[in-house]
Formats: sequence, structure tokens, C-alpha cells
Amino acid sequence: MRVDNALAPEFKYFSAGIFSNVYDGEKRIEMPSSLQILGFSNENDPAIPQRHESYVFRREVLRDLLAFLRKPNGDALFITGPTGSGKTSAVNEVCARLNWPVEQMTLNNRFEFSQLTGHFTYAAQAPGEEPQMRFQYGPLAIAMRHGHVLVLNEFDLGDPGELAGLNDVLEGRPLVLAENAGEIIKPHPMFRVIVTGNSAGNGDASGRYAGVQQQNIAFLDRFRFLEVNYQEPKVEEELLAGLVPHMKPVLRGMVRLANEVRTLFSEGRISLTLSTRTLVRWAQIANDFRNSTNPLEYGLRRALLIRAEPEESQAIVNLCRTVFGDAWSAHEKDAQS
Ligand SMILES: Nc1ncnc2c1ncn2[C@@H]1O[C@H](COP(=O)(O)OP(=O)(O)O)[C@@H](O)[C@H]1O
Ligand SMILES: [Mg+2]
Repeated sequence: MRVDNALAPEFKYFSAGIFSNVYDGEKRIEMPSSLQILGFSNENDPAIPQRHESYVFRREVLRDLLAFLRKPNGDALFITGPTGSGKTSAVNEVCARLNWPVEQMTLNNRFEFSQLTGHFTYAAQAPGEEPQMRFQYGPLAIAMRHGHVLVLNEFDLGDPGELAGLNDVLEGRPLVLAENAGEIIKPHPMFRVIVTGNSAGNGDASGRYAGVQQQNIAFLDRFRFLEVNYQEPKVEEELLAGLVPHMKPVLRGMVRLANEVRTLFSEGRISLTLSTRTLVRWAQIANDFRNSTNPLEYGLRRALLIRAEPEESQAIVNLCRTVFGDAWSAHEKDAQS
């Protein structure tokens, strides 16, 4: 075990045993407890993400995330992968266990760099007090000063021109708040930048994800990349079983259906997909209505089908008949009679 006498009291080493539910392929593994991971001692910072005990980690994703957090070597991290595959949540669940506060923002096509740095507002410090003009620091300024992780979601929806404002920061230079009398914020040694997106920054050639912008090549050169795809079917089943144990008998079919829909989506044959996020929602609604006639159909409608075009919805229902066989149609007959 590594003993670091110089460690400041605000930091703390955690044993890798804090990560349970780690899978290597389909196999569940134990993290070596001799592995020590640096985090923060204060567990009460309100910016620490919420922790979910049943969260399932993949070994490769965990390894890359921990390596980046420990020693970024001046890089930022770009996590790419399909929607709802566990990009944002993997970062949050890791930081939750290390007491590492996270500043988050989700970008869109109206994103402006000043949303990250801060702006003046006219507000009272406390209820009843005189309002005053004061500078409200943005997530980048806060993360740099206090050594938080800055997470920018749907990064590739941002305008490359606005994002270029991050260049200096990614180069390790201090942030200059011109609006706030040129205040200078030096990067804390624990400051990290992680971005997530459906593309890897180079636009979306398939046209499946609306609004994805091609990012500047020189800018992308400042990132290391991590790909987070959907879990192995067996693991996705385990993940769902952890959340809704009552649904165990049908989880295999649900995951199989999800993978069929994902294939159709990736082939460009339908315009929507069935992410892990949607699977969780489906399983939870079906579980809540498990005493009704066809809980699977009831849940799938509310989780996905209502927002699908009628033909696509029909195609997915047909897939359900194939995957669930008699179970699905038997319920349908009950429902009609
Ligand atoms: N490994 C996992 N273990 C448990 N739940 C997961 C996992 N991956 C994804 N999920 C579920 O899917 C949801 C969406 O994941 P998220 O990380 O937000 O996706 P995205 O890749 O779009 O950022 C989570 O809130 C959680 O419910
Ligand atoms: Mg996300």
C-alpha cells in the first residue's frame, strides 16, 4: 500500500474495494483492495454527485476513468458513445465514491462560453437583504478554483467557435475573467475536464443525432478518448435485476429486444433507439404495473412507443411478439377480451 506522508488533509486515498459490481466482459470481478485511489476527504460537499449502490461498472471504462482522474498528463477526456449508454453516469458514480465534486453543464446550439465563466447578476446575498450587483461564477471558474471535475454533456452540440474559449484552459493556462475586473483563476491540481457526446467530435456522418457539430481538429487534439457502448447483454440484465428484481423472468427478453432495436437504429432503418436509460424506465414502469394485464406492453408504450412514428412503433411491437412469443400475444388476447 502506498503511504503518502505529504498528503494534505483535504485529500484521502480510497481502496479500490469501493467499486463493487465491476464486470470484465460478462464476468464479475473484484477490484484489488491494494489499489489506492486519490479522492477528497470531505464527504459533505453539495457538489458531490449522488451515489447508487447498484450501479454497474465496466472494467475498461473504470480503468480509463481512474487513470485519467489520477494523472491526466495535461489532457481533457472525451467520452463518446450512443445515447443513454452510461457516459455521464459513469463519471458521476466514480466521483460520488471518491467525494470528488462535479460541476456539470449540458450544451446546446445556443451555448456561449460566458455561461461557463460567469456573469454579473443583481441579487441579494440572503433573503431580506439589499440586492447588489455581484459576479456569479460559472461552472468552469468554480471547478478550476476548487479542483472539481467539469463535465460538459452533449459537448458536440456546442458551437466550435464558442468552445474555442476553452483552448487556453485545456492548455493548462489560468482563466482570466475579463468581465470581473480581469480576475485570474489558476487551475487547482485536481481540476479535470471531461466531455461526453454521441459523436467523437467529428460530426455525425450517419445523421442519426440532430444538431451534432463538427469540432475543430486542433481543439480535439487536446483530448484523450474513451468509448462507452451499451453493456454486454448479460451485464445489462444484471444491471436491471439490481434495480427491479421482480422483473427477472422477462429481463433477458427485454435486453434482447433492446439490442434488436439498436441494430435497426444503427442500420438507419428506424429513427429511434432503445438505450439503457429507456430499458431502465421500461422495466420500472412494467414493475410498477406488474399486476395489470400486459405490464410489458404498458411499460414499453410509455417508455418508448408513444414518441415513435406509428410504423416504427408497429415494427417494434412485431419484434416484441417474436422475442416474447406467446407471453406477449397471450396478454394481448386477454386485454382484448
Ligand atoms: N452501468 C449502469 N448501471 C446502472 N444504470 C445504468 C448504467 N448505465 C446506464 N444506466 C442507466 O441509464 C441512465 C442513463 O445513463 P447516462 O449515463 O445518463 O447516459 P449517457 O450515455 O447518455 O450519458 C442512467 O441514469 C441509469 O439509469
Ligand atoms: Mg449524458
